[in-house]
Amino acid sequence: MFRETTLAGFAAGWATNSPLQTEAAGAALATVLPPDTVLALHGDLGAGKTTFVRGLARAWGEAGPLTSPTFNYFLIYRGHRQLIHLDAYRLGRPEDFDSLLIDEFLESPWCLAVEWPENLGNRLAENAWHLFFAAPEETCRVLTLQLPA
Ligand SMILES: Nc1ncnc2c1ncn2[C@@H]1O[C@H](COP(=O)(O)OP(=O)(O)OP(=O)(O)O)[C@@H](O)[C@H]1O
Ligand SMILES: [Mg+2]
Repeated sequence: MFRETTLAGFAAGWATNSPLQTEAAGAALATVLPPDTVLALHGDLGAGKTTFVRGLARAWGEAGPLTSPTFNYFLIYRGHRQLIHLDAYRLGRPEDFDSLLIDEFLESPWCLAVEWPENLGNRLAENAWHLFFAAPEETCRVLTLQLPA
């Protein structure tokens, strides 16, 4: 039941009014996201993608800080679910994703959360979950989930 209402909430558009609420949204999705799933996070600069990933990490037991990967394209967090946070913003070409060899780092149960997934071209898994971030107001964000067909 909790799973259904959570998924329905995200499908309808999950509104948040503070960064902390966006983190909480991440924690909520963390409870219903199947293991070994790619989560594509679509949205403009400052839309709240990294804030959301912080909520995922917390929910899976990562106590330390979570900031955007800067020198690295991705960072790995090891809670009771492995979280790989990839920021593809500076990825030049989709082929560059291949050279990151992310597959080699995946340890089940894992989640690969990707910011700027459009920079990966067609390299996203077909069964990836897609979450779209809109910012209708300065402090409001709406997160809308699109499940794989
Ligand atoms: N409801 C909200 N949810 C999330 N962030 C919010 C909200 N309201 C305001 N903010 C602010 O928006 C910014 C979100 O930044 P964040 O780094 O999470 O975005 P991002 O989508 O990862 O951006 P980028 O594409 O640059 O990596 C933060 O400064 C945060 O304080
Ligand atoms: Mg970010």
